[in-house]
Amino acid sequence: MKVLLVGGGGREHAVAAKLAQSPLCAKLYCAPGNAGIAEVAECVPIAAADVDAIVAWAKENDIKFVVVAPDDPLALGLVDKCKAAGLRAFGPTQKAAEIEWSKVFSKGLMKKYGIPTAAYETFTDCGEAVSYAKSQNPSPEKPLVIKADGLALGKGVVIVQNTAEAEETLRDMMEGGRFAGAGRSVVIEEFLQGREVTVLCFTDGWTVYPMPVSRDHKRAYDGDQGPNTGGMGVITPVPDYTPEMAERCLKEIFIPTVDAMRREKRPFSGVLYFGLMLTADGVKVIEYNARFGDPEAQVILPLLENDLLEIMLATEQGWLDTIEPIWSEEACACVVVASGGYPGDYQKGLPITGLNESGQIADSLSSANPDIGSSGTLVFHAGTARNADGELVTNGGRVLSLCAKGKTVKDALERVYAEIDKVRFDGAFYRKDIGAGLV
Ligand code: AMP
Ligand code: GLY
Repeated sequence: MKVLLVGGGGREHAVAAKLAQSPLCAKLYCAPGNAGIAEVAECVPIAAADVDAIVAWAKENDIKFVVVAPDDPLALGLVDKCKAAGLRAFGPTQKAAEIEWSKVFSKGLMKKYGIPTAAYETFTDCGEAVSYAKSQNPSPEKPLVIKADGLALGKGVVIVQNTAEAEETLRDMMEGGRFAGAGRSVVIEEFLQGREVTVLCFTDGWTVYPMPVSRDHKRAYDGDQGPNTGGMGVITPVPDYTPEMAERCLKEIFIPTVDAMRREKRPFSGVLYFGLMLTADGVKVIEYNARFGDPEAQVILPLLENDLLEIMLATEQGWLDTIEPIWSEEACACVVVASGGYPGDYQKGLPITGLNESGQIADSLSSANPDIGSSGTLVFHAGTARNADGELVTNGGRVLSLCAKGKTVKDALERVYAEIDKVRFDGAFYRKDIGAGLV
């Protein structure tokens, strides 16, 4: 069948590389894709959020299956629009994706169904929010977490340590327009102490299959300093998420969430992302996402031994129970190379050196195929493009993710860090401490 993948980041490159291997996939397209994805799929120059244009193109081009990877088109109802046009599509409907695009909705769901999460209040009136924040008297020992309700590129969460900061953040979010509609409502919640992990699950609304656990590193700089980003590096597995925790999470968090969505008449089909905090008081949900994480997908998908397209088709059909995902026991690590200035302003169009014509590290043992090259480093492209002369140039904040498998996380990290300096562009930076403290 002809398959169209929607998106153009590192996550989509990892998804594309797996889909392209499927014997069921006669031809893979990607809208809009990037320079790395162009090696495994035909890129179609339509933005991921241009949902009507995507549906029209898919109809015209006899696409049999649309895979929607990023949050924006899910929130804009691309899956609903595909289905209305008679196209099969992988991902949640707009109503099911609300579990990600509205924090007010997701917190309410957790409260209603007794799913463990941080205590919180929601506000639509800025004055009331400010008075409440003051009454909580935030301090460095007891910070307060302020979250814009809607999608904000991973930047809608601010942790404040005093009342002045709380007031400034709330005014900026609710009245300042920096978050457009996303900040009209806010959630104010208690700060949870602990270490974070991500668990992605395939679910068709009934069956729930957790994927291997991973840990993202969201802050821009070493030592977890600097602003929050979309994610600067990931490792899997994570030793402090024990098999006992995994079993409890399945029973007390993952299955109850999927059941709750069905009861709310928003059955969730696709990949459900659980951002979890391992607190002294048990595991609690920090956030849900309605899709694969980026860069989590880049370490998880290379470990999948099944045909990803077959799993996605079974998910969409509601017969996921007929397939059992098989995961390699290996570890995997990913380090993101970003543009100078990210997550703030940055330049685009800077030449990237050190990669060969396929966009991989020139003398590495790897190829773009995630099943091969466990002894080398894979490069999943994010913000890359070819200029008029065909040269590889930067085209986004997160530019490349370098990933390697290994027997242990330490092995995998050593492989990535051994090759990362071969890739260069002006202003490039990456975190040197991914996985530190664990390996
Ligand atoms: P979110 O977009 O909800 O994932 O939040 C972004 C990041 O903010 C999370 O990955 C956490 O590191 C941090 N965070 C969010 N909520 C809390 C909380 N209640 N307590 C501590 N940290 C939090
Ligand atoms: N890496 C975090 C996310 O995809 O939301």
